[in-house]
Amino acid sequence: MSKEIVCSGIRPTGNLHVGNYFGALRNFVRMQDDFDCFFFIADYHSLTTHPTPDNLYNNARQILIQYLACGLDPEKATIYLQSDLPETIELYLFLNMNAYLGELERVAAFKDKVRQQPNNVNAGLLTYPTLMAADILIHKATKVPVGKDQEQHLEMTRTFANRFNNMYKNEVFPLPQAFNYNDNLIKIPGLDGSGKMGKSEGEANCIFLNDEPSVIKKKIMRAKTDNGPEAMNQTKPVEIENLFTLMKAVSTPDTVAYFDDLYNHCQIRYGDLKKQLAEDMVAFTTPLRERINEIAADEDKLRRIMDMGRDKAHESALRTLTEVRHVIGYRN
Ligand code: TRP
Repeated sequence: MSKEIVCSGIRPTGNLHVGNYFGALRNFVRMQDDFDCFFFIADYHSLTTHPTPDNLYNNARQILIQYLACGLDPEKATIYLQSDLPETIELYLFLNMNAYLGELERVAAFKDKVRQQPNNVNAGLLTYPTLMAADILIHKATKVPVGKDQEQHLEMTRTFANRFNNMYKNEVFPLPQAFNYNDNLIKIPGLDGSGKMGKSEGEANCIFLNDEPSVIKKKIMRAKTDNGPEAMNQTKPVEIENLFTLMKAVSTPDTVAYFDDLYNHCQIRYGDLKKQLAEDMVAFTTPLRERINEIAADEDKLRRIMDMGRDKAHESALRTLTEVRHVIGYRN
């Protein structure tokens, strides 16, 4: 029996951090064993912000390297650059013919952009959801691993797919659903005592997978703490709980229990906890950083991986597009 098809796009925005690792990344790595996966770097979508040619290429390359270093396997999954699959754009055009201004304008992410960048409300931004739908439907994917913020886009994908099927009285496209392994998502907090690890909260809030050990130590030693517990077994304030959450991700259960016990007995010294956390974080990221550097140094291998992904993606896309063209009425 053939496996279900998974498809997800990765925005090429700078370096990956530990939060990305324990979120999407680990899930992708697990999915490649369970499903027929298509993972691509969304380097068409990134044009909405008008990157320079050098940035466009280097960001895509960098993110690919980091995903490979974390265990995405080009032998198992199809890993490719979106711009290596121009078939996507033809499907995007077809879908745009039945995408309406009103519904596109109502998308929350679009409205945010209009507010944030009133001088660059381009048509690419408006039709971001049709391009995303094309990404998914070109492979007839049924499962799409995305976060909450992408659910509305996915809903649009179903709308477009359904509309196309009805219009041509044909079941060309399956209706894709959001998908994640719930037991595998750990929300990693940032170092500033609030929310989650994210670049928008500042570089110091994140531990990047390719941060040097000295940088990691510095960032962790500067993480926010309070004056220490005042009563036995008290609930931890957020910033302290955050440090324990980070510790749970990268340290042994014994280590976590040891510091938890000290906290509960009001004997904790945050300096010691941070030193241990930094050490375990460095131990966790070091093999990843080394693999990132290793892969980055092998341009030929990287090229081969990209070519292989492009060829596999092309085969799948052409199959769908041939059917779509025929259904629409192109007979050549
Ligand atoms: N919009 C997604 C994001 O911002 C990236 C993306 C582009 C995507 N095309 C996709 C995700 C197709 C899933 C499927 O994260």
